[in-house]
Amino acid sequence: MSESATSVDLNCPFLRACRREPTDYTPVWIMRQAGRYLPEYREIRSKVSFLEMCKRPDLAAEVTLQPIRRLGVDAAILFADILLVIEPMGAGLEFTAGTGPRILRPARDGRAVDALEAVDVSESLGYVFEAARLVRAGLPRHIPLIGFAGAPFTVASYLIEGSGSRDYMHTKSLMYRDSGAWHALMERISTVLIDYLNGQIDAGAQAVQLFDSWVGALSPGDYREFVQPHSRRTIAGLRPGVPVIHFGTGAATLLELMRDAGGDVIGLDWRIELAEGWRRLGNGVGVQGNLDPVVLYADPPEIRRRAQRILDQAGGRPGHIFNLGHGILPTVPVDHAIALVDAVHEMSRR
Ligand code: CP3
Repeated sequence: MSESATSVDLNCPFLRACRREPTDYTPVWIMRQAGRYLPEYREIRSKVSFLEMCKRPDLAAEVTLQPIRRLGVDAAILFADILLVIEPMGAGLEFTAGTGPRILRPARDGRAVDALEAVDVSESLGYVFEAARLVRAGLPRHIPLIGFAGAPFTVASYLIEGSGSRDYMHTKSLMYRDSGAWHALMERISTVLIDYLNGQIDAGAQAVQLFDSWVGALSPGDYREFVQPHSRRTIAGLRPGVPVIHFGTGAATLLELMRDAGGDVIGLDWRIELAEGWRRLGNGVGVQGNLDPVVLYADPPEIRRRAQRILDQAGGRPGHIFNLGHGILPTVPVDHAIALVDAVHEMSRR
Protein backbone atom coordinates (compact mmCIF):
# COMPACT_ATOMS: atom_id res chain seq x y z
CA MET A 1 0.00 0.00 0.00
CA SER A 2 1.40 3.40 -0.89
CA GLU A 3 2.19 5.96 1.76
CA SER A 4 -0.44 8.41 0.56
CA ALA A 5 -3.08 5.70 0.65
CA THR A 6 -2.74 5.42 4.42
CA SER A 7 -4.46 8.79 4.74
CA VAL A 8 -7.37 7.73 2.55
CA ASP A 9 -10.66 6.69 4.12
CA LEU A 10 -10.88 3.01 3.22
CA ASN A 11 -14.44 3.00 4.54
CA CYS A 12 -15.75 5.50 2.02
CA PRO A 13 -18.87 4.38 0.11
CA PHE A 14 -17.05 3.66 -3.15
CA LEU A 15 -14.42 1.37 -1.61
CA ARG A 16 -17.01 -0.31 0.64
CA ALA A 17 -19.12 -1.03 -2.45
CA CYS A 18 -16.06 -2.48 -4.21
CA ARG A 19 -15.82 -4.93 -1.29
CA ARG A 20 -19.60 -5.57 -1.38
CA GLU A 21 -20.08 -4.04 2.05
CA PRO A 22 -23.27 -2.10 2.88
CA THR A 23 -23.22 1.67 2.31
CA ASP A 24 -25.51 4.51 3.42
CA TYR A 25 -26.20 5.34 -0.21
CA THR A 26 -25.12 4.06 -3.62
CA PRO A 27 -21.81 5.59 -4.67
CA VAL A 28 -21.70 7.13 -8.14
CA TRP A 29 -19.07 8.38 -10.56
CA ILE A 30 -19.20 8.96 -14.32
CA MET A 31 -16.92 7.44 -16.91
CA ARG A 32 -15.12 10.25 -18.78
CA GLN A 33 -16.15 12.65 -16.03
CA ALA A 34 -12.87 14.50 -16.58
CA GLY A 35 -13.66 15.86 -20.01
CA ARG A 36 -15.15 18.14 -22.56
CA TYR A 37 -18.69 18.51 -21.23
CA LEU A 38 -17.17 20.72 -18.50
CA PRO A 39 -16.52 24.35 -19.51
CA GLU A 40 -13.57 24.51 -17.09
CA TYR A 41 -12.01 21.55 -18.97
CA ARG A 42 -12.58 23.18 -22.35
CA GLU A 43 -11.00 26.38 -21.04
CA ILE A 44 -7.71 24.58 -20.32
CA ARG A 45 -7.98 22.40 -23.42
CA SER A 46 -8.38 25.46 -25.67
CA LYS A 47 -4.75 26.35 -24.92
CA VAL A 48 -3.09 22.94 -24.79
CA SER A 49 -3.30 19.82 -26.95
CA PHE A 50 -4.82 16.68 -25.44
CA LEU A 51 -1.52 14.77 -25.34
CA GLU A 52 0.26 17.71 -23.81
CA MET A 53 -2.43 17.92 -21.13
CA CYS A 54 -1.83 14.26 -20.31
CA LYS A 55 1.90 14.97 -20.03
CA ARG A 56 1.52 18.01 -17.79
CA PRO A 57 0.86 16.56 -14.31
CA ASP A 58 -0.37 19.92 -13.00
CA LEU A 59 -3.01 20.18 -15.74
CA ALA A 60 -3.94 16.49 -15.60
CA ALA A 61 -4.40 16.81 -11.83
CA GLU A 62 -6.48 19.96 -12.20
CA VAL A 63 -8.94 18.42 -14.68
CA THR A 64 -9.16 15.25 -12.57
CA LEU A 65 -10.30 17.40 -9.63
CA GLN A 66 -12.79 19.50 -11.64
CA PRO A 67 -15.64 16.95 -11.62
CA ILE A 68 -15.11 16.33 -7.90
CA ARG A 69 -15.84 19.99 -7.21
CA ARG A 70 -18.67 20.29 -9.75
CA LEU A 71 -20.59 17.03 -9.56
CA GLY A 72 -20.13 15.68 -6.05
CA VAL A 73 -19.20 12.23 -7.36
CA ASP A 74 -17.86 9.59 -4.95
CA ALA A 75 -14.61 8.86 -6.77
CA ALA A 76 -12.07 10.61 -8.96
CA ILE A 77 -10.67 9.02 -12.12
CA LEU A 78 -7.24 10.04 -13.20
CA PHE A 79 -7.11 12.15 -16.36
CA ALA A 80 -5.04 10.16 -18.86
CA ASP A 81 -5.82 7.87 -21.80
CA ILE A 82 -5.80 4.15 -22.50
CA LEU A 83 -3.58 4.77 -25.54
CA LEU A 84 -0.68 6.44 -23.71
CA VAL A 85 1.06 3.08 -23.23
CA ILE A 86 1.32 2.68 -26.99
CA GLU A 87 3.71 5.60 -27.45
CA PRO A 88 6.66 4.13 -25.50
CA MET A 89 6.13 0.80 -27.28
CA GLY A 90 7.40 2.69 -30.32
CA ALA A 91 4.29 2.66 -32.51
CA GLY A 92 3.71 6.43 -32.51
CA LEU A 93 0.58 8.11 -31.18
CA GLU A 94 -1.28 11.18 -32.37
CA PHE A 95 -4.53 12.81 -31.31
CA THR A 96 -5.93 15.06 -34.00
CA ALA A 97 -9.05 17.15 -33.68
CA GLY A 98 -11.99 15.53 -35.44
CA THR A 99 -10.44 12.21 -36.42
CA GLY A 100 -9.63 10.89 -32.94
CA PRO A 101 -6.50 9.01 -32.00
CA ARG A 102 -4.16 7.52 -34.60
CA ILE A 103 -1.33 5.00 -34.22
CA LEU A 104 1.34 5.97 -36.72
CA ARG A 105 2.97 2.57 -37.20
CA PRO A 106 0.36 -0.14 -36.55
CA ALA A 107 1.75 -3.58 -35.63
CA ARG A 108 0.00 -6.03 -37.92
CA ASP A 109 2.37 -8.99 -38.17
CA GLY A 110 4.92 -10.98 -36.19
CA ARG A 111 7.83 -8.82 -37.31
CA ALA A 112 6.16 -5.65 -36.18
CA VAL A 113 5.29 -7.28 -32.88
CA ASP A 114 8.92 -8.34 -32.37
CA ALA A 115 10.06 -4.80 -33.14
CA LEU A 116 7.98 -3.25 -30.35
CA GLU A 117 10.05 -1.76 -27.57
CA ALA A 118 10.13 -2.92 -23.97
CA VAL A 119 8.71 -0.24 -21.70
CA ASP A 120 10.16 1.12 -18.49
CA VAL A 121 6.99 2.70 -17.18
CA SER A 122 8.56 5.01 -14.62
CA GLU A 123 10.80 6.43 -17.32
CA SER A 124 8.25 6.84 -20.11
CA LEU A 125 4.94 7.13 -18.25
CA GLY A 126 6.17 8.71 -15.05
CA TYR A 127 4.14 11.81 -15.90
CA VAL A 128 0.97 9.79 -15.21
CA PHE A 129 2.28 8.71 -11.82
CA GLU A 130 3.23 12.28 -10.99
CA ALA A 131 -0.30 13.39 -11.87
CA ALA A 132 -1.70 10.66 -9.60
CA ARG A 133 0.48 11.90 -6.73
CA LEU A 134 -0.73 15.47 -7.24
CA VAL A 135 -4.37 14.37 -7.44
CA ARG A 136 -4.12 12.29 -4.30
CA ALA A 137 -2.60 15.23 -2.46
CA GLY A 138 -5.46 17.45 -3.64
CA LEU A 139 -8.34 15.09 -2.85
CA PRO A 140 -10.25 14.90 0.41
CA ARG A 141 -9.65 11.64 2.34
CA HIS A 142 -13.12 10.29 1.61
CA ILE A 143 -12.70 10.49 -2.18
CA PRO A 144 -10.72 7.58 -3.63
CA LEU A 145 -8.70 7.88 -6.83
CA ILE A 146 -9.36 5.37 -9.60
CA GLY A 147 -6.42 4.53 -11.84
CA PHE A 148 -7.10 2.90 -15.19
CA ALA A 149 -5.76 1.28 -18.31
CA GLY A 150 -7.17 -0.29 -21.44
CA ALA A 151 -7.55 -4.05 -21.21
CA PRO A 152 -5.08 -6.02 -23.37
CA PHE A 153 -7.56 -6.68 -26.20
CA THR A 154 -8.65 -3.07 -26.57
CA VAL A 155 -5.07 -1.78 -26.50
CA ALA A 156 -4.01 -4.49 -28.98
CA SER A 157 -6.85 -3.65 -31.35
CA TYR A 158 -5.78 0.01 -31.43
CA LEU A 159 -2.15 -0.96 -31.89
CA ILE A 160 -3.08 -3.26 -34.77
CA GLU A 161 -5.83 -1.26 -36.50
CA GLY A 162 -4.17 2.11 -35.98
CA SER A 163 -7.51 3.72 -35.10
CA GLY A 164 -11.05 2.79 -34.15
CA SER A 165 -12.53 0.09 -36.34
CA ARG A 166 -15.89 -1.22 -37.48
CA ASP A 167 -15.01 -4.86 -38.12
CA TYR A 168 -11.57 -5.34 -36.52
CA MET A 169 -10.33 -6.92 -39.73
CA HIS A 170 -6.62 -6.52 -39.00
CA THR A 171 -6.96 -7.50 -35.35
CA LYS A 172 -8.89 -10.68 -35.99
CA SER A 173 -6.76 -11.52 -39.04
CA LEU A 174 -3.66 -11.56 -36.85
CA MET A 175 -5.48 -13.78 -34.35
CA TYR A 176 -6.60 -16.24 -37.00
CA ARG A 177 -3.50 -16.21 -39.19
CA ASP A 178 -0.69 -16.11 -36.64
CA SER A 179 -1.84 -17.02 -33.17
CA GLY A 180 1.79 -17.11 -32.00
CA ALA A 181 2.31 -13.46 -32.90
CA TRP A 182 -1.09 -12.61 -31.40
CA HIS A 183 -0.28 -14.17 -28.04
CA ALA A 184 3.21 -12.63 -28.06
CA LEU A 185 1.65 -9.21 -28.62
CA MET A 186 -0.95 -9.69 -25.89
CA GLU A 187 1.76 -10.81 -23.50
CA ARG A 188 3.89 -7.76 -24.21
CA ILE A 189 0.93 -5.48 -23.73
CA SER A 190 -0.18 -7.10 -20.50
CA THR A 191 3.35 -6.86 -19.11
CA VAL A 192 3.27 -3.11 -19.71
CA LEU A 193 -0.24 -2.82 -18.28
CA ILE A 194 0.71 -4.59 -15.05
CA ASP A 195 3.65 -2.24 -14.47
CA TYR A 196 1.59 0.77 -15.51
CA LEU A 197 -1.35 0.02 -13.21
CA ASN A 198 0.89 -0.90 -10.29
CA GLY A 199 2.72 2.39 -10.85
CA GLN A 200 -0.60 4.23 -10.57
CA ILE A 201 -1.45 2.31 -7.41
CA ASP A 202 1.94 3.09 -5.88
CA ALA A 203 1.42 6.75 -6.75
CA GLY A 204 -1.89 6.92 -4.91
CA ALA A 205 -4.74 5.13 -6.74
CA GLN A 206 -7.04 3.17 -4.39
CA ALA A 207 -8.77 1.19 -7.14
CA VAL A 208 -8.24 0.57 -10.85
CA GLN A 209 -10.51 0.07 -13.82
CA LEU A 210 -9.67 -1.94 -16.92
CA PHE A 211 -11.50 -0.65 -20.00
CA ASP A 212 -12.20 -3.40 -22.53
CA SER A 213 -14.11 -1.01 -24.73
CA TRP A 214 -13.92 -2.99 -27.97
CA VAL A 215 -14.22 -6.53 -26.58
CA GLY A 216 -17.83 -6.81 -27.77
CA ALA A 217 -16.44 -7.47 -31.26
CA LEU A 218 -15.48 -11.01 -30.20
CA SER A 219 -17.31 -14.33 -30.06
CA PRO A 220 -17.23 -16.04 -26.65
CA GLY A 221 -14.97 -18.77 -28.06
CA ASP A 222 -12.45 -16.26 -29.37
CA TYR A 223 -12.56 -14.31 -26.11
CA ARG A 224 -11.83 -17.47 -24.17
CA GLU A 225 -8.92 -18.51 -26.38
CA PHE A 226 -7.31 -15.23 -27.40
CA VAL A 227 -8.12 -12.73 -24.68
CA GLN A 228 -9.13 -14.23 -21.37
CA PRO A 229 -5.68 -15.62 -20.44
CA HIS A 230 -4.14 -12.19 -20.94
CA SER A 231 -6.81 -10.24 -19.06
CA ARG A 232 -6.50 -12.81 -16.29
CA ARG A 233 -2.73 -12.46 -16.13
CA THR A 234 -3.00 -8.66 -16.10
CA ILE A 235 -5.46 -8.61 -13.21
CA ALA A 236 -3.56 -11.29 -11.28
CA GLY A 237 -0.41 -9.16 -11.57
CA LEU A 238 -1.87 -6.17 -9.75
CA ARG A 239 -1.15 -5.21 -6.15
CA PRO A 240 -3.27 -7.42 -3.90
CA GLY A 241 -6.10 -5.77 -1.98
CA VAL A 242 -6.69 -3.01 -4.54
CA PRO A 243 -10.17 -3.39 -6.06
CA VAL A 244 -10.34 -3.93 -9.81
CA ILE A 245 -13.32 -2.87 -11.94
CA HIS A 246 -13.43 -4.89 -15.15
CA PHE A 247 -15.51 -3.06 -17.74
CA GLY A 248 -16.51 -4.06 -21.25
CA THR A 249 -18.95 -2.65 -23.79
CA GLY A 250 -21.21 -4.76 -25.95
CA ALA A 251 -20.07 -7.60 -23.73
CA ALA A 252 -23.40 -9.06 -22.58
CA THR A 253 -22.46 -12.42 -24.11
CA LEU A 254 -19.05 -12.39 -22.42
CA LEU A 255 -19.95 -11.46 -18.84
CA GLU A 256 -19.20 -14.80 -17.20
CA LEU A 257 -15.93 -15.09 -19.11
CA MET A 258 -14.90 -11.58 -18.10
CA ARG A 259 -15.77 -12.32 -14.48
CA ASP A 260 -13.65 -15.48 -14.64
CA ALA A 261 -10.74 -13.44 -15.97
CA GLY A 262 -10.93 -11.37 -12.78
CA GLY A 263 -12.18 -8.21 -11.14
CA ASP A 264 -14.02 -7.37 -7.94
CA VAL A 265 -16.63 -5.37 -9.83
CA ILE A 266 -17.85 -5.97 -13.38
CA GLY A 267 -18.83 -2.89 -15.39
CA LEU A 268 -22.04 -3.29 -17.41
CA ASP A 269 -23.13 -1.22 -20.37
CA TRP A 270 -26.83 -0.42 -20.94
CA ARG A 271 -27.45 -3.19 -23.45
CA ILE A 272 -28.22 -5.59 -20.63
CA GLU A 273 -30.59 -5.05 -17.69
CA LEU A 274 -28.55 -4.59 -14.54
CA ALA A 275 -30.58 -7.22 -12.67
CA GLU A 276 -30.02 -9.80 -15.35
CA GLY A 277 -26.32 -9.02 -15.62
CA TRP A 278 -25.83 -9.31 -11.86
CA ARG A 279 -27.87 -12.53 -11.68
CA ARG A 280 -25.64 -14.08 -14.32
CA LEU A 281 -22.48 -12.87 -12.61
CA GLY A 282 -23.56 -14.24 -9.24
CA ASN A 283 -22.84 -13.17 -5.68
CA GLY A 284 -19.08 -13.18 -5.87
CA VAL A 285 -18.72 -9.81 -7.62
CA GLY A 286 -20.15 -6.30 -7.51
CA VAL A 287 -21.52 -4.47 -10.55
CA GLN A 288 -21.03 -0.99 -11.93
CA GLY A 289 -23.42 0.79 -14.25
CA ASN A 290 -25.43 1.09 -16.29
CA LEU A 291 -27.42 4.13 -17.44
CA ASP A 292 -27.40 4.76 -21.19
CA PRO A 293 -25.19 7.90 -21.60
CA VAL A 294 -27.77 9.40 -23.96
CA VAL A 295 -30.33 9.51 -21.12
CA LEU A 296 -28.39 12.55 -19.86
CA TYR A 297 -29.94 14.53 -22.73
CA ALA A 298 -33.41 13.92 -21.27
CA ASP A 299 -34.92 16.37 -18.78
CA PRO A 300 -33.96 15.81 -15.13
CA PRO A 301 -37.31 14.20 -14.14
CA GLU A 302 -36.78 11.55 -16.83
CA ILE A 303 -33.13 11.13 -15.79
CA ARG A 304 -34.39 10.51 -12.23
CA ARG A 305 -36.96 7.96 -13.36
CA ARG A 306 -34.40 6.02 -15.32
CA ALA A 307 -31.81 6.17 -12.54
CA GLN A 308 -34.50 4.92 -10.14
CA ARG A 309 -35.14 1.92 -12.38
CA ILE A 310 -31.49 0.94 -12.17
CA LEU A 311 -31.43 1.43 -8.40
CA ASP A 312 -34.56 -0.74 -8.17
CA GLN A 313 -32.84 -3.48 -10.12
CA ALA A 314 -29.84 -3.36 -7.79
CA GLY A 315 -32.35 -3.56 -4.95
CA GLY A 316 -30.01 -2.01 -2.38
CA ARG A 317 -27.79 -5.06 -2.56
CA PRO A 318 -24.24 -4.26 -1.38
CA GLY A 319 -21.80 -4.03 -4.27
CA HIS A 320 -23.51 -1.67 -6.71
CA ILE A 321 -21.58 1.35 -7.98
CA PHE A 322 -23.77 3.62 -10.07
CA ASN A 323 -22.30 4.81 -13.38
CA LEU A 324 -23.23 5.32 -16.99
CA GLY A 325 -22.99 2.29 -19.26
CA HIS A 326 -20.21 4.09 -21.20
CA GLY A 327 -18.52 7.49 -21.17
CA ILE A 328 -20.39 10.78 -20.80
CA LEU A 329 -20.85 12.52 -24.15
CA PRO A 330 -19.14 15.89 -24.72
CA THR A 331 -22.33 17.90 -25.31
CA VAL A 332 -24.25 16.79 -22.21
CA PRO A 333 -25.46 19.77 -20.12
CA VAL A 334 -23.46 19.89 -16.89
CA ASP A 335 -26.68 20.47 -14.92
CA HIS A 336 -27.97 17.12 -16.09
CA ALA A 337 -24.85 15.33 -14.87
CA ILE A 338 -25.25 17.09 -11.51
CA ALA A 339 -28.94 16.12 -11.43
CA LEU A 340 -27.99 12.48 -11.94
CA VAL A 341 -25.45 12.42 -9.13
CA ASP A 342 -27.86 14.17 -6.75
CA ALA A 343 -30.69 11.84 -7.73
CA VAL A 344 -28.63 8.70 -7.12
CA HIS A 345 -27.50 9.93 -3.71
CA GLU A 346 -30.98 10.99 -2.67
CA MET A 347 -32.99 8.07 -4.02
CA SER A 348 -30.62 5.40 -2.76
CA ARG A 349 -30.29 6.71 0.81
CA ARG A 350 -30.90 3.90 3.25
O1 CP3 B 1 -12.87 8.95 -17.42
C1 CP3 B 1 -12.15 9.97 -17.38
O2 CP3 B 1 -12.61 11.12 -17.26
C2 CP3 B 1 -10.67 9.79 -17.36
C3 CP3 B 1 -10.01 10.09 -18.58
C4 CP3 B 1 -10.16 9.19 -19.79
C5 CP3 B 1 -9.97 9.66 -21.10
N1 CP3 B 1 -10.01 8.61 -21.96
C6 CP3 B 1 -9.70 11.05 -21.47
C7 CP3 B 1 -9.93 11.49 -22.86
C8 CP3 B 1 -10.44 7.82 -19.89
C9 CP3 B 1 -10.80 6.82 -18.81
C10 CP3 B 1 -10.31 7.46 -21.27
C11 CP3 B 1 -10.46 6.08 -21.76
C12 CP3 B 1 -10.43 5.84 -23.19
N2 CP3 B 1 -9.72 6.47 -24.17
C13 CP3 B 1 -11.11 4.78 -23.81
C14 CP3 B 1 -11.93 3.75 -23.08
C15 CP3 B 1 -13.21 4.31 -22.60
C16 CP3 B 1 -14.25 4.30 -23.63
O3 CP3 B 1 -14.79 5.40 -23.88
O4 CP3 B 1 -14.56 3.24 -24.13
C17 CP3 B 1 -10.86 4.83 -25.19
C18 CP3 B 1 -11.41 3.92 -26.24
C19 CP3 B 1 -9.96 5.91 -25.40
C20 CP3 B 1 -9.34 6.31 -26.67
C21 CP3 B 1 -9.70 7.69 -27.03
N3 CP3 B 1 -9.21 8.81 -26.40
C22 CP3 B 1 -10.55 8.10 -28.07
C23 CP3 B 1 -11.30 7.17 -29.00
C24 CP3 B 1 -10.54 9.49 -28.06
C25 CP3 B 1 -11.15 10.41 -29.09
C26 CP3 B 1 -12.62 10.36 -29.04
C27 CP3 B 1 -13.11 11.31 -28.02
O5 CP3 B 1 -13.90 10.89 -27.16
O6 CP3 B 1 -12.71 12.46 -28.13
C28 CP3 B 1 -9.75 9.92 -26.98
C29 CP3 B 1 -9.51 11.32 -26.54
C30 CP3 B 1 -9.85 11.63 -25.11
N4 CP3 B 1 -9.53 10.87 -24.02
C31 CP3 B 1 -10.47 12.81 -24.65
C32 CP3 B 1 -10.52 12.73 -23.24
C33 CP3 B 1 -11.03 13.77 -22.29
C34 CP3 B 1 -10.94 13.97 -25.51
C35 CP3 B 1 -9.76 14.74 -25.90
C36 CP3 B 1 -10.07 16.19 -26.17
O7 CP3 B 1 -10.19 16.98 -25.23
O8 CP3 B 1 -10.14 16.54 -27.37
